[in-house]
Amino acid sequence: MKLLVTGGAGFIGSNFLLYWLKYHPNDQIINLDKLTYAGNLANLASISSPTYSFIQGDICDVKLVSEIMDGVDTVVHFAAESHVDRSIVDPPVFLRTNIIGTQVLLDAALRKKVKRFHHISTDEVFGSLEIESKEKFRESTPYNPRSPYAASKAAADYMVRVYCITYGLPVTITNCSNNFGPFQHPEKLIPLAITNILEGKKIPVYGDGRYVRDWLYVEDHCRAIDQVLRNGKIGETYCVGGMTKDITNLEVVKKILSLMDKDDSWIEYVKDRPGHDRRYAMDFRKIEKEFGWKPEHDFETWLGKTVEWYKENTSWWKKVKKGEFQDYYRKQYKQ
Ligand code: NAD
Ligand code: DAU
Repeated sequence: MKLLVTGGAGFIGSNFLLYWLKYHPNDQIINLDKLTYAGNLANLASISSPTYSFIQGDICDVKLVSEIMDGVDTVVHFAAESHVDRSIVDPPVFLRTNIIGTQVLLDAALRKKVKRFHHISTDEVFGSLEIESKEKFRESTPYNPRSPYAASKAAADYMVRVYCITYGLPVTITNCSNNFGPFQHPEKLIPLAITNILEGKKIPVYGDGRYVRDWLYVEDHCRAIDQVLRNGKIGETYCVGGMTKDITNLEVVKKILSLMDKDDSWIEYVKDRPGHDRRYAMDFRKIEKEFGWKPEHDFETWLGKTVEWYKENTSWWKKVKKGEFQDYYRKQYKQ
Protein backbone atom coordinates (compact mmCIF):
# COMPACT_ATOMS: atom_id res chain seq x y z
CA MET A 1 0.00 0.00 0.00
CA LYS A 2 1.16 3.53 -0.77
CA LEU A 3 0.20 6.10 1.88
CA LEU A 4 0.31 9.87 1.69
CA VAL A 5 0.50 11.32 5.19
CA THR A 6 0.08 15.10 5.46
CA GLY A 7 1.46 16.99 8.46
CA GLY A 8 3.69 14.07 9.43
CA ALA A 9 6.29 16.34 11.05
CA GLY A 10 3.79 17.61 13.61
CA PHE A 11 2.89 16.07 16.96
CA ILE A 12 0.27 13.46 16.05
CA GLY A 13 1.49 12.99 12.47
CA SER A 14 5.01 12.07 13.59
CA ASN A 15 3.69 9.68 16.25
CA PHE A 16 1.49 8.13 13.56
CA LEU A 17 4.44 7.66 11.16
CA LEU A 18 6.50 5.96 13.89
CA TYR A 19 3.51 3.77 14.75
CA TRP A 20 2.78 2.90 11.09
CA LEU A 21 6.35 2.00 10.20
CA LYS A 22 6.50 -0.25 13.26
CA TYR A 23 3.29 -2.16 12.50
CA HIS A 24 3.18 -1.91 8.69
CA PRO A 25 6.86 -1.87 7.67
CA ASN A 26 6.23 -2.89 4.06
CA ASP A 27 4.00 0.06 3.19
CA GLN A 28 5.40 2.91 1.15
CA ILE A 29 4.88 6.26 2.90
CA ILE A 30 5.19 9.83 1.65
CA ASN A 31 5.12 12.54 4.29
CA LEU A 32 4.05 15.93 2.90
CA ASP A 33 4.67 18.73 5.40
CA LYS A 34 5.25 22.45 5.00
CA LEU A 35 7.38 22.58 8.16
CA THR A 36 5.60 25.54 9.72
CA TYR A 37 6.62 26.56 13.24
CA ALA A 38 4.83 23.35 14.38
CA GLY A 39 6.62 20.96 12.02
CA ASN A 40 9.82 19.38 13.28
CA LEU A 41 11.90 16.80 11.43
CA ALA A 42 13.68 15.95 14.70
CA ASN A 43 10.49 14.00 15.60
CA LEU A 44 11.30 11.62 12.75
CA ALA A 45 15.07 11.33 13.26
CA SER A 46 14.79 7.65 14.26
CA ILE A 47 13.26 6.64 10.89
CA SER A 48 15.66 4.90 8.54
CA SER A 49 13.15 2.91 6.50
CA PRO A 50 13.76 2.87 2.71
CA THR A 51 9.97 2.85 2.19
CA TYR A 52 9.60 6.30 3.80
CA SER A 53 10.14 9.64 2.05
CA PHE A 54 9.66 13.26 3.06
CA ILE A 55 8.54 16.12 0.82
CA GLN A 56 8.55 19.66 2.15
CA GLY A 57 5.54 21.40 0.63
CA ASP A 58 2.19 23.06 1.14
CA ILE A 59 -1.10 21.17 0.96
CA CYS A 60 -2.56 24.29 -0.75
CA ASP A 61 -0.12 23.86 -3.69
CA VAL A 62 -2.41 22.34 -6.35
CA LYS A 63 0.37 21.28 -8.75
CA LEU A 64 2.57 19.69 -6.09
CA VAL A 65 -0.32 17.86 -4.44
CA SER A 66 -1.50 16.53 -7.80
CA GLU A 67 1.99 15.19 -8.61
CA ILE A 68 2.44 13.59 -5.19
CA MET A 69 -0.99 11.94 -5.33
CA ASP A 70 0.05 9.73 -8.30
CA GLY A 71 -0.29 6.06 -7.35
CA VAL A 72 -1.36 6.83 -3.76
CA ASP A 73 -3.86 4.32 -2.31
CA THR A 74 -4.60 6.03 1.02
CA VAL A 75 -4.38 9.59 2.29
CA VAL A 76 -4.15 10.23 6.04
CA HIS A 77 -4.66 13.95 6.46
CA PHE A 78 -3.24 15.54 9.64
CA ALA A 79 -1.81 18.80 8.25
CA ALA A 80 -3.46 21.79 9.87
CA GLU A 81 -2.98 24.88 11.91
CA SER A 82 -3.87 23.34 15.26
CA HIS A 83 -3.62 25.86 18.09
CA VAL A 84 -6.83 27.55 19.26
CA ASP A 85 -5.08 30.58 20.84
CA ARG A 86 -3.20 31.34 17.61
CA SER A 87 -6.47 31.08 15.63
CA ILE A 88 -7.98 33.79 17.82
CA VAL A 89 -5.24 36.29 16.92
CA ASP A 90 -4.68 35.21 13.27
CA PRO A 91 -7.66 33.41 11.67
CA PRO A 92 -6.73 33.69 7.93
CA VAL A 93 -3.95 31.07 7.94
CA PHE A 94 -6.38 28.64 9.63
CA LEU A 95 -8.93 29.13 6.88
CA ARG A 96 -6.29 28.75 4.17
CA THR A 97 -4.60 25.60 5.46
CA ASN A 98 -7.48 23.85 7.18
CA ILE A 99 -10.21 24.51 4.60
CA ILE A 100 -8.55 25.29 1.26
CA GLY A 101 -5.70 22.85 1.89
CA THR A 102 -8.18 20.07 2.64
CA GLN A 103 -10.17 20.88 -0.51
CA VAL A 104 -6.99 20.78 -2.64
CA LEU A 105 -6.17 17.32 -1.26
CA LEU A 106 -9.74 16.07 -1.75
CA ASP A 107 -9.76 17.25 -5.36
CA ALA A 108 -6.45 15.56 -6.19
CA ALA A 109 -7.52 12.38 -4.38
CA LEU A 110 -10.70 12.26 -6.45
CA ARG A 111 -8.89 12.81 -9.77
CA LYS A 112 -6.23 10.21 -8.94
CA LYS A 113 -8.85 7.69 -7.76
CA VAL A 114 -7.45 7.29 -4.26
CA LYS A 115 -9.04 4.32 -2.49
CA ARG A 116 -9.37 6.00 0.93
CA PHE A 117 -9.16 9.56 2.18
CA HIS A 118 -8.99 9.62 5.98
CA HIS A 119 -9.45 13.01 7.63
CA ILE A 120 -8.27 13.78 11.17
CA SER A 121 -10.72 16.07 12.90
CA THR A 122 -11.44 17.22 16.41
CA ASP A 123 -14.09 17.21 19.13
CA GLU A 124 -13.90 21.04 19.08
CA VAL A 125 -16.31 21.09 16.10
CA PHE A 126 -19.09 20.08 18.53
CA GLY A 127 -18.75 23.21 20.69
CA SER A 128 -18.95 23.25 24.48
CA LEU A 129 -20.73 21.13 27.10
CA GLU A 130 -21.96 22.31 30.51
CA ILE A 131 -19.59 21.79 33.41
CA GLU A 132 -20.70 18.89 35.63
CA SER A 133 -23.24 17.68 33.05
CA LYS A 134 -23.20 14.01 32.04
CA GLU A 135 -23.56 14.83 28.35
CA LYS A 136 -20.92 13.64 25.87
CA PHE A 137 -20.16 14.35 22.23
CA ARG A 138 -21.07 11.58 19.84
CA GLU A 139 -21.09 11.13 16.06
CA SER A 140 -24.63 12.57 15.79
CA THR A 141 -23.94 15.70 17.90
CA PRO A 142 -24.67 18.81 15.81
CA TYR A 143 -21.67 20.99 14.96
CA ASN A 144 -21.34 24.23 16.95
CA PRO A 145 -17.74 25.49 16.54
CA ARG A 146 -16.80 28.39 18.79
CA SER A 147 -13.26 29.42 17.75
CA PRO A 148 -11.73 30.22 14.35
CA TYR A 149 -9.77 26.95 14.63
CA ALA A 150 -12.90 24.90 15.36
CA ALA A 151 -14.84 26.66 12.59
CA SER A 152 -12.08 25.90 10.08
CA LYS A 153 -12.01 22.22 11.10
CA ALA A 154 -15.83 22.03 10.90
CA ALA A 155 -15.73 23.51 7.38
CA ALA A 156 -13.05 20.97 6.40
CA ASP A 157 -15.17 18.11 7.80
CA TYR A 158 -18.14 19.29 5.73
CA MET A 159 -15.98 19.39 2.58
CA VAL A 160 -14.75 15.86 3.26
CA ARG A 161 -18.34 14.63 3.63
CA VAL A 162 -19.41 16.54 0.51
CA TYR A 163 -16.68 14.91 -1.61
CA CYS A 164 -18.06 11.54 -0.53
CA ILE A 165 -21.73 12.37 -1.05
CA THR A 166 -21.42 14.44 -4.25
CA TYR A 167 -18.46 12.84 -6.02
CA GLY A 168 -18.22 9.40 -4.41
CA LEU A 169 -14.72 9.82 -2.90
CA PRO A 170 -14.25 7.02 -0.32
CA VAL A 171 -13.70 8.99 2.89
CA THR A 172 -13.66 8.34 6.63
CA ILE A 173 -13.33 10.86 9.47
CA THR A 174 -12.19 10.58 13.08
CA ASN A 175 -13.07 13.32 15.56
CA CYS A 176 -10.77 12.94 18.52
CA SER A 177 -10.15 14.67 21.83
CA ASN A 178 -7.00 16.31 23.28
CA ASN A 179 -3.96 14.17 22.55
CA PHE A 180 -0.93 14.11 24.83
CA GLY A 181 2.44 12.36 24.67
CA PRO A 182 5.93 12.78 23.18
CA PHE A 183 6.75 15.44 20.56
CA GLN A 184 3.81 17.73 21.43
CA HIS A 185 4.61 21.39 20.82
CA PRO A 186 5.04 23.30 24.11
CA GLU A 187 2.36 25.83 23.12
CA LYS A 188 -0.19 23.23 24.34
CA LEU A 189 -1.16 22.92 28.01
CA ILE A 190 0.55 19.68 29.11
CA PRO A 191 3.99 20.22 27.48
CA LEU A 192 3.85 23.92 28.35
CA ALA A 193 3.25 23.08 32.02
CA ILE A 194 6.03 20.47 32.15
CA THR A 195 8.65 22.52 30.31
CA ASN A 196 7.83 25.73 32.19
CA ILE A 197 8.50 23.93 35.46
CA LEU A 198 11.75 22.52 34.07
CA GLU A 199 12.72 26.12 33.20
CA GLY A 200 11.75 27.39 36.66
CA LYS A 201 8.68 29.25 35.34
CA LYS A 202 5.10 29.16 36.58
CA ILE A 203 2.26 27.40 34.74
CA PRO A 204 -0.26 29.82 33.20
CA VAL A 205 -3.81 28.64 33.88
CA TYR A 206 -6.59 30.37 31.97
CA GLY A 207 -9.52 31.82 33.95
CA ASP A 208 -10.64 29.75 36.92
CA GLY A 209 -9.03 26.55 35.57
CA ARG A 210 -12.39 24.76 35.84
CA TYR A 211 -12.34 23.73 32.18
CA VAL A 212 -12.60 20.09 31.23
CA ARG A 213 -10.83 18.31 28.39
CA ASP A 214 -10.86 14.62 27.45
CA TRP A 215 -7.21 13.44 27.30
CA LEU A 216 -6.19 10.75 24.84
CA TYR A 217 -2.69 9.25 24.74
CA VAL A 218 -1.37 9.78 21.22
CA GLU A 219 -0.56 6.09 20.58
CA ASP A 220 -4.17 5.13 21.36
CA HIS A 221 -5.22 7.69 18.76
CA CYS A 222 -2.83 6.17 16.17
CA ARG A 223 -4.30 2.72 16.86
CA ALA A 224 -7.81 4.09 16.38
CA ILE A 225 -6.85 5.54 12.98
CA ASP A 226 -5.31 2.18 12.03
CA GLN A 227 -8.61 0.44 12.93
CA VAL A 228 -10.67 2.92 10.93
CA LEU A 229 -8.35 2.60 7.92
CA ARG A 230 -8.72 -1.17 7.99
CA ASN A 231 -12.36 -1.55 9.00
CA GLY A 232 -14.08 1.84 8.80
CA LYS A 233 -17.20 2.20 6.69
CA ILE A 234 -17.01 4.68 3.83
CA GLY A 235 -18.66 8.02 4.64
CA GLU A 236 -18.67 7.35 8.39
CA THR A 237 -17.37 9.41 11.29
CA TYR A 238 -15.86 7.86 14.44
CA CYS A 239 -15.46 9.71 17.78
CA VAL A 240 -12.22 8.83 19.61
CA GLY A 241 -11.67 9.73 23.27
CA GLY A 242 -9.45 8.74 26.16
CA MET A 243 -11.35 9.27 29.42
CA THR A 244 -14.42 8.02 31.26
CA LYS A 245 -14.26 10.60 34.09
CA ASP A 246 -14.01 14.40 33.91
CA ILE A 247 -10.79 16.11 34.94
CA THR A 248 -10.35 19.90 35.10
CA ASN A 249 -7.31 21.76 33.78
CA LEU A 250 -6.50 22.69 37.36
CA GLU A 251 -6.48 19.02 38.37
CA VAL A 252 -4.26 18.16 35.39
CA VAL A 253 -1.81 20.92 36.32
CA LYS A 254 -1.79 19.80 39.98
CA LYS A 255 -1.02 16.23 38.91
CA ILE A 256 1.93 17.52 36.85
CA LEU A 257 3.14 19.58 39.82
CA SER A 258 2.91 16.57 42.09
CA LEU A 259 4.80 14.38 39.57
CA MET A 260 7.51 17.06 39.52
CA ASP A 261 7.60 17.52 43.33
CA LYS A 262 6.29 21.10 43.21
CA ASP A 263 3.49 22.82 45.13
CA ASP A 264 0.54 24.96 44.00
CA SER A 265 2.53 28.20 44.24
CA TRP A 266 3.78 27.26 40.71
CA ILE A 267 0.31 28.01 39.31
CA GLU A 268 -0.34 31.45 37.83
CA TYR A 269 -3.93 32.33 36.98
CA VAL A 270 -3.92 34.38 33.77
CA LYS A 271 -6.47 36.10 31.54
CA ASP A 272 -8.97 33.64 30.10
CA ARG A 273 -9.11 32.53 26.46
CA PRO A 274 -11.95 34.43 24.68
CA GLY A 275 -14.93 32.12 24.06
CA HIS A 276 -13.19 29.36 26.06
CA ASP A 277 -15.11 26.07 25.66
CA ARG A 278 -16.04 24.89 29.16
CA ARG A 279 -16.17 21.13 28.80
CA TYR A 280 -15.42 18.40 26.28
CA ALA A 281 -16.31 14.73 26.81
CA MET A 282 -16.29 11.96 24.23
CA ASP A 283 -18.64 9.03 23.81
CA PHE A 284 -16.45 6.54 21.96
CA ARG A 285 -18.90 3.62 22.08
CA LYS A 286 -19.28 3.41 18.28
CA ILE A 287 -15.60 2.64 17.56
CA GLU A 288 -15.53 0.38 20.64
CA LYS A 289 -18.63 -1.55 19.57
CA GLU A 290 -17.67 -1.84 15.90
CA PHE A 291 -13.93 -2.59 16.17
CA GLY A 292 -13.28 -3.31 19.86
CA TRP A 293 -11.07 -0.20 20.09
CA LYS A 294 -10.72 1.46 23.47
CA PRO A 295 -7.99 3.55 25.10
CA GLU A 296 -5.26 1.33 26.57
CA HIS A 297 -3.05 4.05 28.09
CA ASP A 298 -4.54 5.44 31.31
CA PHE A 299 -4.13 9.14 32.01
CA GLU A 300 -2.30 8.88 35.38
CA THR A 301 0.42 6.48 34.22
CA TRP A 302 0.98 8.05 30.82
CA LEU A 303 0.99 11.59 32.12
CA GLY A 304 3.87 10.45 34.34
CA LYS A 305 5.64 8.88 31.35
CA THR A 306 5.09 12.08 29.36
CA VAL A 307 6.70 14.13 32.15
CA GLU A 308 9.67 11.73 32.01
CA TRP A 309 9.88 12.09 28.20
CA TYR A 310 10.17 15.88 28.45
CA LYS A 311 12.74 15.54 31.24
CA GLU A 312 14.82 13.23 29.05
CA ASN A 313 14.45 15.28 25.86
CA THR A 314 15.39 18.77 26.99
CA SER A 315 17.32 19.58 23.81
CA TRP A 316 14.18 18.79 21.73
CA TRP A 317 11.88 21.22 23.54
CA LYS A 318 14.54 23.85 24.29
CA LYS A 319 15.07 24.27 20.54
CA VAL A 320 11.32 24.53 19.95
CA LYS A 321 10.93 27.11 22.72
CA LYS A 322 13.56 29.41 21.15
CA GLY A 323 12.98 32.11 18.50
CA GLU A 324 9.38 32.40 17.26
CA PHE A 325 8.02 30.82 20.42
CA GLN A 326 9.53 33.54 22.64
CA ASP A 327 7.61 36.28 20.73
CA TYR A 328 4.44 34.22 20.77
CA TYR A 329 4.73 33.57 24.52
CA ARG A 330 5.33 37.24 25.37
CA LYS A 331 2.28 38.36 23.38
CA GLN A 332 0.02 35.52 24.49
CA TYR A 333 0.75 35.73 28.21
CA LYS A 334 1.24 39.46 28.72
CA GLN A 335 -1.13 40.46 31.53
P1 NAD B 1 0.63 20.16 14.94
O1 NAD B 1 0.35 21.63 14.93
O2 NAD B 1 1.55 19.59 15.93
O3 NAD B 1 1.18 19.73 13.50
C1 NAD B 1 0.64 20.20 12.31
C2 NAD B 1 1.58 19.81 11.17
O4 NAD B 1 0.99 20.26 9.94
C3 NAD B 1 2.97 20.48 11.27
O5 NAD B 1 3.97 19.53 11.01
C4 NAD B 1 2.92 21.55 10.19
O6 NAD B 1 4.20 21.85 9.64
C5 NAD B 1 2.00 20.92 9.16
N1 NAD B 1 1.35 21.93 8.31
C6 NAD B 1 0.71 23.04 8.72
N2 NAD B 1 0.27 23.74 7.64
C7 NAD B 1 0.62 23.01 6.55
C8 NAD B 1 0.42 23.18 5.15
N3 NAD B 1 -0.21 24.27 4.66
N4 NAD B 1 0.90 22.24 4.32
C9 NAD B 1 1.57 21.15 4.79
N5 NAD B 1 1.78 20.94 6.09
C10 NAD B 1 1.31 21.86 6.97
O7 NAD B 1 -0.79 19.47 15.00
P2 NAD B 1 -1.24 18.14 15.76
O8 NAD B 1 -1.53 18.47 17.16
O9 NAD B 1 -0.30 17.06 15.43
O10 NAD B 1 -2.63 17.87 15.04
C11 NAD B 1 -2.70 17.09 13.85
C12 NAD B 1 -4.14 17.03 13.37
O11 NAD B 1 -4.96 16.50 14.38
C13 NAD B 1 -4.73 18.40 13.03
O12 NAD B 1 -5.55 18.25 11.91
C14 NAD B 1 -5.57 18.75 14.24
O13 NAD B 1 -6.63 19.58 13.90
C15 NAD B 1 -6.03 17.37 14.68
N6 NAD B 1 -6.32 17.22 16.10
C16 NAD B 1 -5.35 17.48 17.03
C17 NAD B 1 -5.61 17.24 18.38
C18 NAD B 1 -4.58 17.47 19.45
O14 NAD B 1 -4.89 17.30 20.63
N7 NAD B 1 -3.36 17.84 19.13
C19 NAD B 1 -6.87 16.76 18.76
C20 NAD B 1 -7.84 16.57 17.78
C21 NAD B 1 -7.54 16.76 16.46
O1 DAU C 1 -9.97 18.93 21.78
C1 DAU C 1 -9.10 18.71 20.72
C2 DAU C 1 -8.20 19.89 20.53
O2 DAU C 1 -7.27 19.88 21.61
C3 DAU C 1 -7.46 19.92 19.19
O3 DAU C 1 -8.37 19.99 18.15
C4 DAU C 1 -6.47 21.09 19.13
O4 DAU C 1 -5.71 21.01 17.94
C5 DAU C 1 -5.55 21.00 20.32
O5 DAU C 1 -4.71 22.13 20.34
C6 DAU C 1 -6.35 20.93 21.63
O6 DAU C 1 -7.05 22.18 21.85
P1 DAU C 1 -7.19 22.84 23.31
O7 DAU C 1 -7.43 24.28 23.14
O8 DAU C 1 -8.12 22.05 24.15
O9 DAU C 1 -5.68 22.53 23.85
P2 DAU C 1 -4.69 23.42 24.71
O10 DAU C 1 -3.58 22.54 25.13
O11 DAU C 1 -4.37 24.69 24.03
O12 DAU C 1 -5.57 23.79 25.99
C7 DAU C 1 -6.07 22.77 26.84
C8 DAU C 1 -6.87 23.46 27.94
O13 DAU C 1 -5.93 24.17 28.78
C9 DAU C 1 -7.85 24.50 27.45
O14 DAU C 1 -8.99 24.50 28.31
C10 DAU C 1 -7.12 25.82 27.58
C11 DAU C 1 -6.23 25.57 28.80
N1 DAU C 1 -4.94 26.27 28.81
C12 DAU C 1 -4.15 26.19 27.72
C13 DAU C 1 -2.93 26.84 27.66
C14 DAU C 1 -2.05 26.77 26.45
C15 DAU C 1 -4.54 26.99 29.94
O15 DAU C 1 -5.24 27.06 30.96
N2 DAU C 1 -3.33 27.62 29.89
C16 DAU C 1 -2.52 27.60 28.80
O16 DAU C 1 -1.44 28.24 28.83
